[in-house]
Amino acid sequence: MAATLTILGLESSCDDTGAAVVRQRDDAAPEILANVVAGQGDLHAAFGGVVPEIAARAHVEKLDLCVERALEEAGLRLSDMDAVAVTAGPGLIGGVLAGVMCAKGLSAGAGLPLIGVNHLAGHALTPRLTDDLAYPYLMLLVSGGHCQFLTVGGAEDFSRLGGTIDDAPGEAFDKTAKLLGLPQPGGPAVEAEAEKGDATRFAFPRPLLDRPGCDMSFSGLKTALLRARDAVVVEKAGLTEQDRADLCAGFQQAVCDVLAEKTRRALAEYMAEEPEAPALAVAGGVAANKAIRSALEAVAEEAGVAFTAPPLALCTDNAAMIAWAGMERYRLGLFDDLDLAAHPRWPLDQSSQPMLGSGKRGAKA
Ligand code: KG4
Ligand code: ZN
Repeated sequence: MAATLTILGLESSCDDTGAAVVRQRDDAAPEILANVVAGQGDLHAAFGGVVPEIAARAHVEKLDLCVERALEEAGLRLSDMDAVAVTAGPGLIGGVLAGVMCAKGLSAGAGLPLIGVNHLAGHALTPRLTDDLAYPYLMLLVSGGHCQFLTVGGAEDFSRLGGTIDDAPGEAFDKTAKLLGLPQPGGPAVEAEAEKGDATRFAFPRPLLDRPGCDMSFSGLKTALLRARDAVVVEKAGLTEQDRADLCAGFQQAVCDVLAEKTRRALAEYMAEEPEAPALAVAGGVAANKAIRSALEAVAEEAGVAFTAPPLALCTDNAAMIAWAGMERYRLGLFDDLDLAAHPRWPLDQSSQPMLGSGKRGAKA
């Protein structure tokens, strides 16, 4: 029987400052006792995107307040924790450093073990926190900075089947919003517009569907959107609300179609390994999109595979997923010490060829 563990998790890799407390009693389902997220939307709004220096400063200001609130909500003290888990990358270096420094202080001050967590592992392991999903499963991790298919065989066992060769879908949603004058983060705004639009009015490309395998590309989509927007503007000297909704609907449908077809192919590859209880799970900020969730659910159903998508608040960045990934590492005896470094780049599957970025800064994915 496994021991009861209570873990404090910290997240600060992008523009959400988070602190959470997750507990697992023996072998029972884990409980999220607190999950505090302080967004920074207002601070970046005027700039049309996340400004790394502003983000880092805001994390420094908010981290300890978030920890205080999380402990208060959980009704526990720091001394009740078994360990402090923190995102040690990948992400914006200033923010990751702020989290790692805060965690080191808490760990040294309270004499608690320190556990560095890969942010992507946090997303990829979320279905185990929310749905007790057993290994191995196929994960589509789809967020603002990442998009990849992974076979998840354990807390330390990720094998990448394919991914984006350029932008991540979240990035494309954010750029689409920017081009159409919608607020950031773009995903929820574009989704809301898309619900009022006609997805068939504009013919957007479905990049890389003509090539085998499950690699994807989303950068051409935003160029197509820009062209379609400009064509309407030239024709009518402006965009109506309906034009904007139709552009959003067409764009979102193209993303849905690409993700669905590539998921079909990734599923076929994963099923060739004959997993005992085959399952498809999706995670990351873009997994909050209802149209994308239902398109993926349909693909899973068609393949006779179980489907898991975390609740919306656990799709976008949060510290509960970091506490949970920390707990999985704790149970494997994987701890860090005060030498724990912040990694701006840190691919989950280190054995695969880099897909994005290389050289001095290392592979992005
Ligand atoms: O996982 P996340 O919070 O941060 C990263 O690790 O990247 O993902 C943020 C991304 C943003 O690009 C945001 O626009 C996108 O997720 N997103 C969505 C939705 N909600 C958030 N994209 C599409 N539809 C949504 N409802
Ligand atoms: Zn994330």
